[in-house]
Amino acid sequence: MNGISYPVELDPATSLLAAVRDVVGLTGSKEGCDDSECGACMMLLDGKPVNSCSYLALQAEGSEITTVEGLASDDTLAPLQAAFLEQGGVQCGFCTPGMLISATALLQANPHPTEDEVRIGLSGNLCRCTGYDGIVKAVLAVAEAP
Ligand code: FES
Ligand code: FES
Repeated sequence: MNGISYPVELDPATSLLAAVRDVVGLTGSKEGCDDSECGACMMLLDGKPVNSCSYLALQAEGSEITTVEGLASDDTLAPLQAAFLEQGGVQCGFCTPGMLISATALLQANPHPTEDEVRIGLSGNLCRCTGYDGIVKAVLAVAEAP
């Protein structure tokens, strides 16, 4: 996970989210609905976004996992993280880790999305605070950056 191997022993029914938060101790990924509805728990699994609340940790054995903690390098925010702050894409912050992961996956698959493509790409992530405009602006700002 985020470039580090975590050998852990788990109950087979443990979700990936529970393993990451409660066993490994990385609490950036959030539990919102626990039912694949809100995207707050989104992680990249071998580069693909998954709702980790609904994914068994055992299924992730041997995979490369990226959580929000893995986006920044050293003390420098990733461009998307900085853009979220600059464009007003963060209020309470509960959705932000999942939004950042989904936006990262979106830009990896489509580096120059239209606004509609950004909104569709983030449609699996719910935000109760921002109205989404700041989030969309942030993704477009990174997409358009030279
Ligand atoms: S907590 Fe996983 S989708 Fe809501
Ligand atoms: S910033 Fe509060 S839920 Fe999105």
